[in-house]
Amino acid sequence: MGEVVLEARNLSRFYEVGGGLFRRPGVVKALQDASFRLEAGKTLAIVGESGCGKSTLARVVTMIEEPTAGELLINGKKAEAGSREMRQTIQIVFQNPYGSLNPRHRVGAILEEPLKLNTTMDAAERRRRAEETMERVGLRPEHYERYPHMFSGGQRQRIAIARALMLEPKILVLDEPVSALDLSIQAQVLNILSDLQGELDLAYLFISHDLSVVRHISDDIMVMYLGKVVEAGDAGTVFAAPSHPYTAALMSATPVADPERQKQRIMLTGELPSPLNPPPGCAFHPRCRYATDKCKEAAPPAETHAGRQVACYHPL
Ligand SMILES: Nc1ncnc2c1ncn2[C@@H]1O[C@H](COP(=O)(O)OP(=O)(O)O)[C@@H](O)[C@H]1O
Ligand code: SF4
Ligand SMILES: [Mg+2]
Repeated sequence: MGEVVLEARNLSRFYEVGGGLFRRPGVVKALQDASFRLEAGKTLAIVGESGCGKSTLARVVTMIEEPTAGELLINGKKAEAGSREMRQTIQIVFQNPYGSLNPRHRVGAILEEPLKLNTTMDAAERRRRAEETMERVGLRPEHYERYPHMFSGGQRQRIAIARALMLEPKILVLDEPVSALDLSIQAQVLNILSDLQGELDLAYLFISHDLSVVRHISDDIMVMYLGKVVEAGDAGTVFAAPSHPYTAALMSATPVADPERQKQRIMLTGELPSPLNPPPGCAFHPRCRYATDKCKEAAPPAETHAGRQVACYHPL
């Protein structure tokens, strides 16, 4: 195993939600007991349907929000919210490249802001660093003076990636970084991310609801369902033969080029249950075609099966 840059130990994040006219107050367990490790220069993909807790995980590992329980270690040390070391080690890129850039600031100012706040660099040094970083992500020097609205979605995402790189972090949390982009542009941005990873030895926590996006870029994969990790392991191993029925269903719902595999689609049927009132036992049981009585009684613990971790009583 290489150098572990980020380690999560039983991380949880709960939200208390108030009652409304037709709702009772309750607790949303958006993230429950997630444990994983991320190595320098590697990509850990986090996948699952909308609402399974991916963005919550992103906010907790970047300490935008504190965990309700559990521990987060960055470079082997307990992470502290708002510390300079944290900002210089881990940065985040959000899905929406429109909302995340200040429309009143020029690209140059957007990129240099982290340097102003966190370093003693003078104006000339800051500009040099901004221009270098723009070049890395495929932006042209004249873009320095322009405003975000003058760019396409793909270019804005390059700006957001450049901004995340300004403090030379070792880890990027990428929360659906290409999900808002057209398919052809997605490939360009994924290529840039892949090149940057090689050049800068970056570790990625790459979040996506779309398995086809992470298929070719992940070293490890973690599949989540209603706030819990259901399967985790080496990406090649999991993609070759998923063990958790939910992973298998997600995979067969993802378009593949091979028509033989296309035929054996397993449909992911049924509604995603309310996270305020998850099903008892294995939360996937109402949608699982392998469910038995045992599955409805107690949540299955994560166990090693066929070289990966699976939380299922009847792994495939
Ligand atoms: N601030 C919040 N208050 C209450 N519930 C929240 C909050 N943020 C997220 N949630 C809930 O937590 C669950 C996970 O959300 P999220 O992490 O955004 O999922 P994903 O990114 O996988 O779509 C959802 O049910 C969502 O409604
Ligand atoms: S524990 Fe049971 S219900 Fe849950 S995924 Fe496994 S077989 Fe299906
Ligand atoms: Mg999200």
